[in-house]
Amino acid sequence: MDTEPAVTAAPPAAAGRQPLPEPLGPGFLARPEETLAEIRETCPVARIRTPAGRPAWLVTRAEDVRAGFLDPRLSLSGGRVPDPDVRRRALDVTLVNYDPPDHTRIRRLATPALTPARMTAHRERIEQAAGELLDAADAARGRGPVELMDAFARPFAFRSLCEVFAVREEERAALYEPVALLADKTGRTARAVEESVARIDGFVRGEMARREAAPGEDVVSRVLAAWHEQGGASEDEVASLLAMLLLAGFDSTVQAIGMSVVALLGHPDVQESLRSEPGRIPRAVDELLRWDTPGPFSTKRVALEDVRFGDTVIPAGSGVLLSVAAANHDPRCHADPATLDPDRGTAGRHLSFGLGPHYCPGSALARLELTVTLTAVLGRWHRLEPAVPLHELAWGGGYLHRRLAALPVLPHGPA
Ligand code: HEM
Repeated sequence: MDTEPAVTAAPPAAAGRQPLPEPLGPGFLARPEETLAEIRETCPVARIRTPAGRPAWLVTRAEDVRAGFLDPRLSLSGGRVPDPDVRRRALDVTLVNYDPPDHTRIRRLATPALTPARMTAHRERIEQAAGELLDAADAARGRGPVELMDAFARPFAFRSLCEVFAVREEERAALYEPVALLADKTGRTARAVEESVARIDGFVRGEMARREAAPGEDVVSRVLAAWHEQGGASEDEVASLLAMLLLAGFDSTVQAIGMSVVALLGHPDVQESLRSEPGRIPRAVDELLRWDTPGPFSTKRVALEDVRFGDTVIPAGSGVLLSVAAANHDPRCHADPATLDPDRGTAGRHLSFGLGPHYCPGSALARLELTVTLTAVLGRWHRLEPAVPLHELAWGGGYLHRRLAALPVLPHGPA
């Protein structure tokens, strides 16, 4: 028997029972903002069911989504307090399961390690990685297409992480396997997942010991330095934080790279204008993140109390999804949102990195990787075309994290 509450598509008192909105219907993974726009304009705070069949509230207007990210009553822990005596290992403690003050004491160890200035110090090596990967792609393709996710996005995002974490060359191949497996668990056995978690855990603890003995300028050393200075976290929590940075830093960026290139393939005029004026690329990166993002929704929150958005009260205990994709295309915030405008003045107001206490700590690295990618790709090839019609691209993953499996492109000549 279905014991879940009735699902309505509008404030219950106003609308009564209505059909379930289907933000996850056919085509959703390819262009989520199109389905979400309809919900935003007809029922900005809507009751839906997640694909697992669980009821949740969906918040879609930019102003409400911003307020939701900043509202401490929308909890990621669901009110659970972590038990400090539980033995932990990688991924048992993830920042997105914590609320302040536990979240704050762990999160502050990561923030100084990932500032824009610290990430820029790695720029040269990251540019070198991009150049080498494109050389290899050119050498392998002859005059044919390049599958950009395998030839570039995945290895580039991984190498960038290795640079900022200072992972030794001889460790990289062994580390890639569990990182890639945990990024996409489709078809993997529980045992394979467990083994990958254990390998990441072992890797992180080995790196911690190595950096204690010989600190450097890398993320692990910086996190350890902040920990020694400020304390306030157990060794297991620090290991878990480092593992999370490594894993959260991989697939989101892989996908954002793919999605940015898809956007430029669909807008040859924008592609050409950025190629001729690469100085505009850093700003265009934010517009590309507004235009499309791997995560159409925030991580699910739980309302600890009744929370009002406009005329609608979300009752205490409800699950809440804040729709980043709907907010990024809300015309109240971004004029003419369906236009990809690399010079858009409001692009920096996108919510693709979230907002508030859980704002993505890796945003500077992600922006750097996207800037380096677009500069390298547009600088190398004087035209880039899709090798298959864009509407035929295969989208997978889930509603919280969309994933482009492959992106075949046809590059034309050196620029
Ligand atoms: C374009 C690439 C990326 C996107 C779109 C992205 C997006 C996001 C979003 C939306 C959140 C907030 C989730 C929420 O509040 O519900 C988040 C959190 C997080 N991201 Fe990213 N991210 C990206 C890259 C990275 C990178 C490169 C790293 C690490 C080096 C990283 C590490 C994290 C971590 C650790 C959190 C949890 C923060 C917390 O809960 O305090 N992300 N990310």
